[in-house]
Amino acid sequence: MPAQVIVGAQWGDEGKGRVADWLAAKADMVARYAGGDNAGHTVRVGDDTFKLHLVPSGVLHTGVRCVMGGGMVINPIKLVGEIKGLAERGVDVSPQRITLAETAQIITPAHVALDGADEAQRGSSAIGTTKRGIGPAYTDKAARTGIRAGAMRDPDMFVRRVSERISQSNELLSKIYNAPTVDPLASADELHAAAEFLTPYLGDASLMLYEALKAGKQVLCEGAQGTLLDLDHGIYPYVTSSTATVGGALTGLGIGPRYIDKVIGVAKAFSTRVGGGPFPTELLDATGDRLRGTGANPWDEYGTTTGRPRRCGWLDTVVLRYAARINGLTDLVITKLDILSGLDELKIADSYTRSGTTVRESPTEVDALEGCQPDYQTLSGWSEPIMDVRKLADLPAQARAYVQRIEELTAVPVTLITVGPARDQTVVP
Ligand code: IMP
Repeated sequence: MPAQVIVGAQWGDEGKGRVADWLAAKADMVARYAGGDNAGHTVRVGDDTFKLHLVPSGVLHTGVRCVMGGGMVINPIKLVGEIKGLAERGVDVSPQRITLAETAQIITPAHVALDGADEAQRGSSAIGTTKRGIGPAYTDKAARTGIRAGAMRDPDMFVRRVSERISQSNELLSKIYNAPTVDPLASADELHAAAEFLTPYLGDASLMLYEALKAGKQVLCEGAQGTLLDLDHGIYPYVTSSTATVGGALTGLGIGPRYIDKVIGVAKAFSTRVGGGPFPTELLDATGDRLRGTGANPWDEYGTTTGRPRRCGWLDTVVLRYAARINGLTDLVITKLDILSGLDELKIADSYTRSGTTVRESPTEVDALEGCQPDYQTLSGWSEPIMDVRKLADLPAQARAYVQRIEELTAVPVTLITVGPARDQTVVP
């Protein structure tokens, strides 16, 4: 049985966790392939809301094995907290169910400090990172100075190595950033305990996935962030430091492309982003506020990890076509269609205008995108709530027309629509 890959088709926060939870019902394994605790995947099961940052969303289905791949960066203290939090809520988080790749990279307290110091130094050009140490941890990985999760097997040695690495990072903090340093031993006890706790979870994730795929098991590869935040294909430098596109599933999990038969792009019915960088369809008006919500509901547009209000705007199919191309999308999932209920008219940008010229393909350079004004198509909205709709035919005609227009403009079939945060608030066309 093949693997399916879930990727974010916009700037992250598309609802990938919720979609992974839905698709996990038919999976044997769910494997997260990139990023760290910068991600916040919200899954609602019955009246319970789970916010997952590191553990794959499949954990909420008994019988599904979960893997955190080598493409991830792991803050061990955060991971222990997340696993224990799930255990307290009755979720089976035993090492028989969850594997952490021994090749994943470790985030140290100094990485977190460096992330904050680097953002402060960038001033008005700050990227708007989640300040979880993601960029500095991937920097150490590429510089070959990082520490892999497998080092936790010897907790004493692990703590020594982390302390040494923190001392080296302190040079950067004090001399380059003029920022406070981190006491190399401040978290030693916690890190030691985390290493002891996590050691039973360590394993060869690539081998485990290979054996599962060879045995005909269904593997769901869960991405984090989104195509426009991808280190190579996002709008650099306003990106995260990992591969958030389909290639990240291959390198981050150590599986070959022949096993992948579906690449499922998840897109919100409108656009959002957090952090800096260009966003052509951003709405700085009452409609933007309406899309964001007040924050009273857990599904309003405020960061799961940082609580920051998200920037909101109309749907942009220039972006979706780009995501379809970069990832080879076979399917599109449209989330949060219900949020559009009550808007008189809806707009979709399918091209931009820059210096009097029509631009149909997403520019890859930040300056080129900054200069783009969206060209909108206007569609009729619908007034009725759709959160209770479960069949495509029961959606208002205008909602069906909106989804159909997305399919036409992206040339990718929409194979799932979500109309609310709960598991069953899903329409399968
Ligand atoms: P970092 O990943 O914390 O380094 O942040 C880099 C950029 O990616 C910033 O613009 C963040 O707001 C954005 N980002 C990181 N993780 C997420 C996510 O899970 N959802 C949305 N944006 C994210």
